[in-house]
Amino acid sequence: MLKNDQLDQWDRENFFHPSTHLAQHARGESPNRVIKTASGVFIEDRDGNKLLDAFAGLYCVNVGYGRKEIAEAIGDQAKELAYYHSYVGHGTEASITLSKMILDRAPANMSKVYFGLGGSDANETNVKLIWYYNNILGRPEKKKIISRWRGYHGSGLVTGSLTGLELFHKKFDLPIEQVIHTEAPYYFRRNNLDQTEEQFVAHCAAELEALIEREGADTIAAFIGEPVLGTGGIVPPPAGYWSAIQAVLKKHDILLVADEVVTGFGRLGSMFGSDHYGIEADIITIAKGLTSAYAPLSGSIISDKVWKVLEQGTDENGPIGHGWTYSAHPIGAAAGVANLKLIDELNLVQNAGETGAYLNATMAEALSGHANVGDVRGEGMLCAVEFVKDKGSRTFFDSADKIGPQISAKLLEQDKVIARAMPQGDILGFAPPFCLSRAEADQVVAAALRAVQAVLG
Ligand SMILES: Cc1ncc(COP(=O)(O)O)c(C=O)c1O
Repeated sequence: MLKNDQLDQWDRENFFHPSTHLAQHARGESPNRVIKTASGVFIEDRDGNKLLDAFAGLYCVNVGYGRKEIAEAIGDQAKELAYYHSYVGHGTEASITLSKMILDRAPANMSKVYFGLGGSDANETNVKLIWYYNNILGRPEKKKIISRWRGYHGSGLVTGSLTGLELFHKKFDLPIEQVIHTEAPYYFRRNNLDQTEEQFVAHCAAELEALIEREGADTIAAFIGEPVLGTGGIVPPPAGYWSAIQAVLKKHDILLVADEVVTGFGRLGSMFGSDHYGIEADIITIAKGLTSAYAPLSGSIISDKVWKVLEQGTDENGPIGHGWTYSAHPIGAAAGVANLKLIDELNLVQNAGETGAYLNATMAEALSGHANVGDVRGEGMLCAVEFVKDKGSRTFFDSADKIGPQISAKLLEQDKVIARAMPQGDILGFAPPFCLSRAEADQVVAAALRAVQAVLG
């Protein structure tokens, strides 16, 4: 009997796990892995299994596990001042310093940062601020938000609506009516196989424009998108996508929110995805990589253009009626300061770009020849392998076959490597910590090939 079997029982009896098949878990039919410790790119469970975490938790432990500098900063902050709020102009040395460090790294048109706790609440804040903005500007009808199918922006009421994945809507009465969706920039899954990338980009822009015209531009407040689609399949945009989309948004006076929860602070090999793709956002969402998940913290970076209107709004209406008890929590802020320093000191953005390119190249070399590998794609330290039943006709597997989940389970079982079976499609996703070495990248690729061969032959 395992020494911690009691934990398994308590877990199944008491713990409501997110994104989990609740009934199977309660019945003991799905695995329950208790993680104990971690270092670098490896996590270790209570049974002593050491696993190479090629998804950095939920693509968030960007600097890698076990960084003493961040742990110490958190401990020191907790001893000195575990909490004070940030309402009515209060701050701490950590929260003020972090806001300066973020603005120093953000695109030049950015002005202020509002702190939350996670990506979902940050996007919730963004939508509220956008509605407020248009009310202050005397445009009360301009409120709808356009998101993309397969976008992921969280799982709250508004943010779950922005998310364009079936699982997050079904039986939850989402999306709410103020949220509408447009075509995903997913070239591999285009409907018309004859389209070139350039034609597909023109098609995405035309679809967006047609939606705006159908709804009326005076009813559309904003467009939200991840620089690279994440949970929807890890899909870098086709060349020219962002400039084509931005031209449409500018024409119709629609704000742009760049959701950089995954891409912010280096994952693409650039500080922000906005720099990487020439996105000129009005608001940028940040979370995960801000603290590398050592403490919960998110942010909405607000541009000058939006900020000026928010100031006007408070002159007219009094203090902004928005805030969380834990906004700018000192412990999260201290983790953020230490994390951003570490990213600079260890040159981790550059490593994400270089080792990420190596990982993508070796993955493509090893796997793209396989009969069931339809696409190997990625950018920086993001990589995905998409499986098809038949390559020539691009026929997908039936989702009931669970090819993606089978391959990720095999990867774990055979080689103790964690990759993520993305939730919609048979797609194996990789998003390792930025400190991944080339030898570790080789290990991930070799394990992926073995898992694919074990499941698909
Ligand atoms: C792009 C993006 N936005 C928002 C979120 C939501 O963040 P959280 O899970 O911290 O609420 C996520 C989470 O994966 C994300 O990938």
